[in-house]
Amino acid sequence: MTSIAGKTILITGATDGLGKEVAKRALHAGAIVLIHGRNKQKGERVVTELINETNKDTIHYYNADLASLQEVKDLSQHITSEHDKIDVLINNAAIGGGPKGGAERELSADGFELRFAVNHLAHFLLTQNLLSILKQSAPSRIVHVSSIGQMPIDFDDIMMENKFDSYTAYCRSKLAQILYGFELAEKLEGSQVTVNSLHPATLMDTNMVHEFFGKVNSTINDGADVVDHVAFSPETEHISGAYFNQKREAKANAQAYDKEARNKLWQVSEKLVSPFFL
Ligand SMILES: NC(=O)c1ccc[n+]([C@@H]2O[C@H](COP(=O)([O-])OP(=O)(O)OC[C@H]3O[C@@H](n4cnc5c(N)ncnc54)[C@H](OP(=O)(O)O)[C@@H]3O)[C@@H](O)[C@H]2O)c1
Repeated sequence: MTSIAGKTILITGATDGLGKEVAKRALHAGAIVLIHGRNKQKGERVVTELINETNKDTIHYYNADLASLQEVKDLSQHITSEHDKIDVLINNAAIGGGPKGGAERELSADGFELRFAVNHLAHFLLTQNLLSILKQSAPSRIVHVSSIGQMPIDFDDIMMENKFDSYTAYCRSKLAQILYGFELAEKLEGSQVTVNSLHPATLMDTNMVHEFFGKVNSTINDGADVVDHVAFSPETEHISGAYFNQKREAKANAQAYDKEARNKLWQVSEKLVSPFFL
């Protein structure tokens, strides 16, 4: 891992699973680590735990339920009011497929399909709201923790009002992150802000996997090694607009290469979140 001592790293969904391990490693390496979660007590517990484990205290907790765009706006405001630098933004928080057999269709506080809202829209808004600080901090990096579980978005039914299936909703939201990542990388060309998406590891030992699959096939450390590689390694420093299947650059689902689909997703996302832009 490249030296990230003194760098400011923001990780969403860092109160558990992969995000928490990435935060621990970054803290251990001397970074200023901004961790985000949706449960204040749990967040404070994680801060104490990581300080005790690493003997470092450059860690700050930010609370926001990503199922509310107002909370995402407040989160962006809170972070920008306290920091004038973000070197790496890791968009990691997500809701998985739900319980085994699938969840009922649920809506976010803004009335949007929940997985699309939390996994994609909230990160779209957060990233757009933090873009000026990321540009100011260049060279800087944006990393989308997506998944190999990708399914094309149905633009005639983005909110899945017709046939709903929670795992399909998850896979669509994970592909949405990649479409957004590819498009944003293009828009940021020449800015020295890179944007990449990744699949960390398959069936890591985390809550969302236990809940939906009931079996695991890899460790959180496997996934954290991949995030380290894409977010911090000198090897990936100049790569932008890529999708990594673990440590290797790979092809994402075909829809990610469809410029029209990417534009459409951008326009829809922008319209839905625009009342919450800073
Ligand atoms: N596990 C795998 O095998 C696997 C495979 C491919 C991709 N991924 C991706 O890896 C990333 C991390 O997943 P994980 O496996 O580490 O899952 P996890 O252990 O369930 O952790 C998810 C994190 O997101 C937070 N979160 C969920 N909903 C939220 C909301 N509405 N607002 C704010 N925070 C919210 C959770 O908070 P709480 O602590 O409060 O629950 C937790 O910190 C996800 O993007 C996932 O899609 C995982």
